[in-house]
Amino acid sequence: MRRMLPIFLLCGVLAVNGAPSNSAKATFSDAFVRKYFPTIFASTEAPNAANCLNKVFTNYELKQHIHVKCDETDGLDTCSGITFVSHDDKAIVMAFRGTYGKLQLLVESEEIMYRNKTAWYGGGNVAYYFAHAFNLIWNAGMKADVNELIHKYPGYEIWVGGHSLGGSLAALASNFLISNGLTTSSNLKMITFGEPRTGDKTFADTVDSLVPYSFRVIHKKDIVPHIPLNGMEGFHHHKAEIWYDNDMSTATYKECDSQESPFCSDSHLDYMIADHHHYYGMYMSYYGRRNCTGDPAN
Ligand SMILES: *[C@@H]1O[C@H](CO)[C@@H](O)[C@H](O)[C@H]1NC(C)=O
Ligand SMILES: *[C@@H]1O[C@H](CO)[C@@H](O)[C@H](O)[C@H]1NC(C)=O
Repeated sequence: MRRMLPIFLLCGVLAVNGAPSNSAKATFSDAFVRKYFPTIFASTEAPNAANCLNKVFTNYELKQHIHVKCDETDGLDTCSGITFVSHDDKAIVMAFRGTYGKLQLLVESEEIMYRNKTAWYGGGNVAYYFAHAFNLIWNAGMKADVNELIHKYPGYEIWVGGHSLGGSLAALASNFLISNGLTTSSNLKMITFGEPRTGDKTFADTVDSLVPYSFRVIHKKDIVPHIPLNGMEGFHHHKAEIWYDNDMSTATYKECDSQESPFCSDSHLDYMIADHHHYYGMYMSYYGRRNCTGDPAN
């Protein structure tokens, strides 16, 4: 028995000093996100994505911009995913776009879209709608593009992101890539803007353990991150919330490093759709649909 004492002491020391490496807390960078991600997300809206990406990337290679019908019930609803590699940043980038028809439905009658959950890679359940949309985009060609780039550029980071419903697809993609061994927790950066609740508590816990570099950026009173309501059918946010309670023109934000904090965007009691469309001064959907020409703010 006496011989076990040093082991217990050692465990005590490790527990204090040594968090497992994949839960080491990442640091949010306003400058990094502001420079790249509004334009990346606008490009997912653009008929000519390169016209957007040219504004912030120089030495890059664009793979396919994949469009799928993401809902078999009406057949009109399209989602998209884009893959490119930035050699200057040594990063392979995957970004997703949801659809505005569905966003409308989500805001008006959230339960319809969220009724059906399905198991997701790594653990937990997510809204079936997102799982189905991700699978369609992945199988329509993103799988081939990502596999090719990962094989060709093994030292590159993977950046995954999306705005709105695209943010939910990004969270699914991140868990998928890491739990299938396509990349590692320390190599992936995930950024979402205005992401709705995507899955249940177990899914949120899985994101938190697999994706330490994960930031849900929220603009002021954006309504979408509050949908579906906390706890409705078990829907629950993952970490970490980055909340700008302003017009996002400066690096003034609050970080809430928890899944459901009352101290960030939940501290407002009223929400609006207008703040959902503008991030970092850019109206991402309109600007993107114009191939990133004209005034980014309108
Ligand atoms: C519900 O989910 C199952 C798979 O889990 C799927 O086959 C079915 O089409 C879904 N229904 C709707 C209405 O989305
Ligand atoms: C955007 O680019 C596409 C493809 O190059 C082109 O057909 C379309 O007219 C452009 N739209 C605008 C508004 O520039």
